[in-house]
Amino acid sequence: STYLSFDKKPNFVLMMVDDLGIGDIGCYGNDTIRTPNIDRLASEGVKLTQYIAAAPLCTPSRAALMTGRYPLRSGMASPGRVQVLLFLGGSGGLPPNETTFAKRLQQQGYTTGLVGKWHQGVNCESRGDHCHHPNQHGFSYFYGLPFTLFNDCVPGEGSDVLVDLQLALQHLTLLLGLGLLTMVGVTFCSTGRVCVRLCGLLEVSLWLLVLLFFVSTVAAAVWYVPFGLLRTWNCIIMRNQDVIEQPLTVETLSQRLLAEAQNFIKR
Ligand SMILES: *[C@@H]1O[C@H](CO)[C@@H](O)[C@H](O)[C@H]1NC(C)=O
Ligand SMILES: *[C@@H]1O[C@H](CO)[C@@H](O)[C@H](O)[C@H]1NC(C)=O
Repeated sequence: STYLSFDKKPNFVLMMVDDLGIGDIGCYGNDTIRTPNIDRLASEGVKLTQYIAAAPLCTPSRAALMTGRYPLRSGMASPGRVQVLLFLGGSGGLPPNETTFAKRLQQQGYTTGLVGKWHQGVNCESRGDHCHHPNQHGFSYFYGLPFTLFNDCVPGEGSDVLVDLQLALQHLTLLLGLGLLTMVGVTFCSTGRVCVRLCGLLEVSLWLLVLLFFVSTVAAAVWYVPFGLLRTWNCIIMRNQDVIEQPLTVETLSQRLLAEAQNFIKR
């Protein structure tokens, strides 16, 4: 109790792990993955055996942990299919007026740092306002992924983000193309002698056709470009508010995050 007295505030480290099952570490019974340091923390400290998360996913559950509020209240939980932020460039994120435990700690004189993944949004109105950034939410220092590490970040690992939407868009583009091709066929017919009957059904001016082709090309680009650029747009590393790596290199990421965390602790 003297340790926790008001004039002696302890330093502490909180590790939050995405997608860690209770059976994945040694002190909870795993005998194939060795976690001796975590096991030691458990044997010299406290090991809890019941935990209730506010959500089964990263974004809403971490919003809840940081604010102590149901993620629905901060707009960070959705009952729909998309329950995490899918594009770093979007305007969603943990609202600036939420009180995180990090903000409270700063008010108590702590220097706070976050190393690793954030995934609670970055900007509100414009690129660079950083309204959802960790620095605005009580973390004096930030190094890591403002977004998340998903398959799309690793070349050759496939895609996590809205695969079914991509498929639906592909089908739509195909249908649109087929539709246009059919119209071209009909239009060409109208100049010939053989298919006069067919042509009576539909007269399309050349300009309309050109316009439709233009619109469908733009539509296809709008659908494909974001998925083609997922890695560049989302897989980045920031130090405070500067982008220092885009796209990020996954191979050495763990070591760099670890070194950053250790350096912050030392400082
Ligand atoms: C240890 O963790 C791995 C990875 O999650 C899992 O495949 C394995 O079944 C676990 N072993 C035990 C004994 O729980
Ligand atoms: C933050 O602001 C929004 C919009 O004004 C409001 O709905 C919400 O209740 C506020 N949250 C807190 C924690 O005050």
